[in-house]
Formats: sequence, structure tokens, C-alpha cells
Amino acid sequence: MKKFDQFLQQLTFNVRRDKEIDLNRRGFIASSMGLMGLMFVSAIPLASQAGSKIHDDEKTVKIAELDELEIGDSKTFSYIDEDEPAMIIRINADEYRAYHIKCTHLQCPVYFDKSSNQMVCPCHHGFFSVNDGSVLAGPPQRGLPAISIETRNDGIYAVGMSEQTV
Ligand code: FES
Repeated sequence: MKKFDQFLQQLTFNVRRDKEIDLNRRGFIASSMGLMGLMFVSAIPLASQAGSKIHDDEKTVKIAELDELEIGDSKTFSYIDEDEPAMIIRINADEYRAYHIKCTHLQCPVYFDKSSNQMVCPCHHGFFSVNDGSVLAGPPQRGLPAISIETRNDGIYAVGMSEQTV
């Protein structure tokens, strides 16, 4: 037992407490800086995605032929994924609108009512503007997510998501 105590004393004599504390402080700061650097580097891809999310996730999809829709006609399609139902509506000779058509209340499918010129959710009588997707009446609290469209020489394309309207 005595030998063991001596052994322990030798060990503790070799350790300089002031240096140990200094090293601990330095080690802690170095570790913290390293951890912060690692967190910063690992966040760069997320930050770059967040800054341009609307454009990074998008893909260009042809959704209608140029002469396919008369004024007041609508057509459903999927965008960006197969499980994201959407609709394009021709609102006049030169303009189209496109929206995701899962109602923002409880996800019922919304349709375009030509006679009232509104997007209508039949489940709880939600009404949305065909011009900007905003809520006109009913329980929905958010507008329909709008899809950006482009008319090109060979058709009409969905090219990304627009800012959501209220
Ligand atoms: S699900 Fe559309 S109004 Fe309720």
C-alpha cells in the first residue's frame, strides 16, 4: 500500500497544476474554435441552399402546348413531384396562372370555377383568387402556392415556385 502511495505521489509531482489549468483552458478554447469551425463549414451547403431555395429545387417541366388552353380553361399537372398536384389556368389571351391545388386548410383538392373565376375548395368552402392564389373566403389561412410559368416557342413550362401569397 505504501508503494502504491509513493507511486501516486510521483505521478502528481510530475504534473504542474498551473500548466495543466493553462492547457485545459487552451484546450477548451481550441476545441470550441474547432467545433465552431466545423459547424460553420458543415452549414455552408445548407446556407447556400436556403438562400436560393426557390431556384435550386426547381425543375423545368412542360405543362401545356401553346394552343391547348382556351381563355378560362384549366389543366392539372404534377409539380415538382408526382404527388404534388397543380393546375394551370388561362386567365386571358396573354396570361396564365399556375398553383399547387392541395388546399392550405386540410389538403382537399382545389378546382377552378370558371363561372365565378375563383379557385374553390369544396370541402369547407374555401375560396382563392385565381389572380394571385390569395385567400378570398373560408377557413384557409394561407394562399395557394404559386408556380412560376414561362411561355416558350414550343409550349408552356413550369419553371419554379413563386413566393407564397397570403
Ligand atoms: S380543406 Fe379546403 S377549405 Fe378545408
